[in-house]
Amino acid sequence: MRAKVVLGSLATSCIAVAAAEVSYGNNSTNGAAKQLLQESMKWMDLYYDSEAGYLYNLDSKALLHDTRSSVWYAAGLLARNEGDDADQAAKIVENVIEGQHKNVSSQWYGDYQIYPEEPTVGTPQYPPVIYNSWDPNWRGFVGTTLILMLEEFPDLIPHDTQTRILESLYNATVGDSYRVGGVDDDNLYASYSNPAIMRAFMSSWTGRRLNDSNMTTAGEAYAKEIINLFERADTLSEFNSGTYAGVSLYALTLWSKYLPQSSLMGEHGPSMVSKTWAILGQLYNANLKNVAGPWDRSYGYDMNRYLSILALHIWTLVGKEAAPINAKPYTMGHKDDFAIGPLVAILAPYHNTLVPNATVSALQTFPGTHNVSTSAFSPPWDTFPRNITAWLSSNLTIGAESFSEDVIGGPAKNPSSFNPAVVQWSRNDGSVGWLTLYAQVKELNAMASEGRLELEYPQGNKTSTFTFLVSTNSKHGKRDVSSWGDVEGANITVEGTVDLTYSVDFAGYVGGSGKTINDFEYWNFTYVMPGDSTEIPRVSLSFGLD
Ligand SMILES: *[C@@H]1O[C@H](CO)[C@@H](O)[C@H](O)[C@H]1NC(C)=O
Ligand SMILES: *[C@@H]1O[C@H](CO)[C@@H](O)[C@H](O)[C@H]1NC(C)=O
Ligand SMILES: *[C@@H]1O[C@H](CO)[C@@H](O)[C@H](O)[C@H]1NC(C)=O
Ligand SMILES: *[C@@H]1O[C@H](CO)[C@@H](O)[C@H](O)[C@H]1NC(C)=O
Ligand SMILES: *[C@@H]1O[C@H](CO)[C@@H](O)[C@H](O)[C@H]1NC(C)=O
Ligand SMILES: *[C@@H]1O[C@H](CO)[C@@H](O)[C@H](O)[C@H]1NC(C)=O
Ligand SMILES: *[C@@H]1O[C@H](CO)[C@@H](O)[C@H](O)[C@H]1NC(C)=O
Ligand SMILES: *[C@@H]1O[C@H](CO)[C@@H](O)[C@H](O)[C@H]1NC(C)=O
Ligand SMILES: *[C@@H]1O[C@H](CO)[C@@H](O)[C@H](O)[C@H]1NC(C)=O
Ligand SMILES: *[C@@H]1O[C@H](CO)[C@@H](O)[C@H](O)[C@H]1NC(C)=O
Ligand SMILES: *[C@@H]1O[C@H](CO)[C@@H](O)[C@H](O)[C@H]1NC(C)=O
Ligand SMILES: *[C@@H]1O[C@H](CO)[C@@H](O)[C@H](O)[C@H]1NC(C)=O
Repeated sequence: MRAKVVLGSLATSCIAVAAAEVSYGNNSTNGAAKQLLQESMKWMDLYYDSEAGYLYNLDSKALLHDTRSSVWYAAGLLARNEGDDADQAAKIVENVIEGQHKNVSSQWYGDYQIYPEEPTVGTPQYPPVIYNSWDPNWRGFVGTTLILMLEEFPDLIPHDTQTRILESLYNATVGDSYRVGGVDDDNLYASYSNPAIMRAFMSSWTGRRLNDSNMTTAGEAYAKEIINLFERADTLSEFNSGTYAGVSLYALTLWSKYLPQSSLMGEHGPSMVSKTWAILGQLYNANLKNVAGPWDRSYGYDMNRYLSILALHIWTLVGKEAAPINAKPYTMGHKDDFAIGPLVAILAPYHNTLVPNATVSALQTFPGTHNVSTSAFSPPWDTFPRNITAWLSSNLTIGAESFSEDVIGGPAKNPSSFNPAVVQWSRNDGSVGWLTLYAQVKELNAMASEGRLELEYPQGNKTSTFTFLVSTNSKHGKRDVSSWGDVEGANITVEGTVDLTYSVDFAGYVGGSGKTINDFEYWNFTYVMPGDSTEIPRVSLSFGLD
């Protein structure tokens, strides 16, 4: 069932990260990348079931295992390459490929199981529910990791395992070609940046390796759509997402490093990495260690408290201390993403050469008060591009986007992750306070400027409400909040066409009237319209520090 593992000779070029010296050039961070590799691997070692050749589920689901984190761990095993690491990596890879869906007529063909104990997807008892019983993006997550292994560590992978990896990539690419946005509940458009970038890469790379020109052509054609969208304003459609900008940067690095100049991806990848970092650098506040809003898809409201993949990249660029990463990363919200650490670390020595110096500098030192203005476009969801404005000062940042979409909660239709208007400030103990507009409408006019956030629902009416989720205070602040005056660190005043009497509710870990969102507790400040209002719902918030 499992191939006998035959170790190739050790190639020094394959263990670049483990062998890398700390250097002091623009990628003076090889030492930091090595630390990221070691720390993420040490944590995953605790979850590794060597008997099974899989990681246990990182959320400890009664000894169930997990496919995607296992394959990320396997890449880390090859990079570390101590003891029997390489044998274990091959064992994991063989398991994952065996668990790949093999029915060419099913929509999930070539995708990878979520976990090896799962029932057969598509049986009456285990219906195929996209993003639940199967996740179409895992073709890309697992497939690109297998490619990275072949590219970086070919001499550590047995020859017959390499053959099966190629067969697996072929199937994954064919299956991925079944994905068409808007068909069969799928949502893969070129604007769904992170899986779109992975798809184009896997198809072109696999086509080249297997001499399947159709696959190569399909990958290049999809890349063309992604590049066209990007070049409109030099921004990713899935804009400024702590988690998914991190994935897109990973995937654009694959374009840049593993495809030749003759590929559109080899040609455009490096500048897309640079330009993506350029805008992130402008929106980053190194005092708060946060990227200012708006965030199209976020799994938290303060990067110091949830683990973002972007923060792992920042770790390799400026070191762990200066990055938005807790000393114990596995205690942060969304901590399972620490499992992608090995991939970020392996690519860092190359990726970091593409990051503009001004960005690296901004990741270390806040450059001074400034405005940012740009746009991003996610067809078919957006009627027209989203206009983005942000104002950043040393201890207060405000960022927002106007949009007109045909869904509520952004393209992912998820109000828990779509944050179109966000304010963050530093508090006396150095912790971060925040406020975010809860997404309730399809159309918003939003503008950030010096100390101000202006919001309007152009299609709203007297039934509209504005809900702001606001951070709980630091351990030095008040435990109870019933008005803006109780919110620590910020002086907030509100005006507008709303009824200025507001309600305040609490959503807590074990109590209150609402549920936490992405593990974050919050105070819910809600404004309604006066009962007889005929005005357009509008609210304007002014912020000072206190
Ligand atoms: C940065 O990393 C790349 C890739 O590992 C290497 O070729 C280059 O010499 C490094 N540059 C500096 C200044 O350290
Ligand atoms: C970036 O910084 C490095 C090291 O200080 C320097 O050698 C290089 O010229 C700079 N690159 C740019 C584009 O300014
Ligand atoms: C393969 O998938 C098709 C389409 O879902 C289904 O009709 C068929 O029964 C499946 N075949 C097997 C062997 O499961
Ligand atoms: C690839 O798919 C074919 C069916 O088209 C299947 O027979 C084969 O086992 C699959 N290979 C792998 C490695 O899963
Ligand atoms: C692809 O073509 C190249 C050049 O013709 C050849 O060396 C290689 O063996 C071929 N690979 C496969 C998988 O057919
Ligand atoms: C490539 O695509 C063409 C046109 O769609 C088709 O006729 C041909 O069979 C395909 N070749 C392969 C190897 O899939
Ligand atoms: C980083 O350093 C490498 C090697 O010195 C150089 O080729 C590259 O242009 C630099 N990149 C940036 C963004 O400065
Ligand atoms: C963005 O700004 C442009 C130019 O001012 C305007 O035409 C467009 O309607 C705005 N888009 C949104 C979503 O507000
Ligand atoms: C920003 O906050 C820090 C830490 O609380 C404080 O030391 C600094 O003086 C503040 N700067 C400004 C401009 O308010
Ligand atoms: C007010 O807006 C809500 C939500 O869009 C809508 O359901 C309702 O019909 C509107 N009411 C009026 C009187 O237009
Ligand atoms: C609070 O803000 C208001 C206006 O934004 C300002 O007049 C007032 O002085 C501020 N108070 C403090 C304590 O900062
Ligand atoms: C916020 O509070 C309002 C008023 O109590 C409530 O209707 C709404 O569901 C709450 N929203 C969230 C996201 O907790």
